Amino acid sequence: MVKYAGLSEATMEGLMKLIQTEAAPRVYRLPVFKKEFCKDLIGDLEHFEQSKAPKGRPNTMNNYGILLNELGFDESFITPLREHYLCTLSTLLYSDCGGSCLDSHKGFAVKYAMREDLGLSYHYDNAEVTLNVSMGKEFTEGNLFFGDMRQVPLSETECMEVEHLVTEGLLHRGQHMHGALHIFSGTRWNLIIWMRASCERNKLCPLCCKRPTLVESDGYSDGFTMDPDNSTRKVLCSLT
Ligand SMILES: [Fe+2]
Repeated sequence: MVKYAGLSEATMEGLMKLIQTEAAPRVYRLPVFKKEFCKDLIGDLEHFEQSKAPKGRPNTMNNYGILLNELGFDESFITPLREHYLCTLSTLLYSDCGGSCLDSHKGFAVKYAMREDLGLSYHYDNAEVTLNVSMGKEFTEGNLFFGDMRQVPLSETECMEVEHLVTEGLLHRGQHMHGALHIFSGTRWNLIIWMRASCERNKLCPLCCKRPTLVESDGYSDGFTMDPDNSTRKVLCSLT
């Protein structure tokens, strides 16, 4: 798929022939990692989780999860995955919402387990395009569900359950409302990459839907850029 999407003559129709089906409207299912890699990565995540190293949490919705940059995974893993694989696909799939200029990301893993978080309620992401990969381990139930874009009233929305097999990723627009149904048993790890396009969010903050007023920040950047020629990413929208 990536090889094809990188050709100058590639078209959306041609790429769709390789992807085959839409899991939900404009939600695409892709093979991402090998099973062995998923196992190894979960091993690393659990080792880090059990360590005494100080840890941040991915976002306010997940109580159990790991920021991938805290394991040093950005430069050698998530950045090349975004630049050389995901952006190539999203250029064709999501050119209308920043898919061709994804220039930063926030990568994290979330964990669902009995007596911990079981699922995730309906929400949208702080991203232009999201990749969500099911890593394992063993679990039952816990499919994802997708509704409509954030702008569509809930009363007009029909949700669609989407099967999410281990090693596969679901690629979707960040503003496409979604959630995770409860698992019934076992433990599930998902790897999430929120990909951001400064060219889009500098015009309209995807959280507060206003033109952002940017302030410098010491914390994680949210993918805005203060000066496009000097991509200082440590800026946040002060409106959110
Ligand atoms: Fe999400």
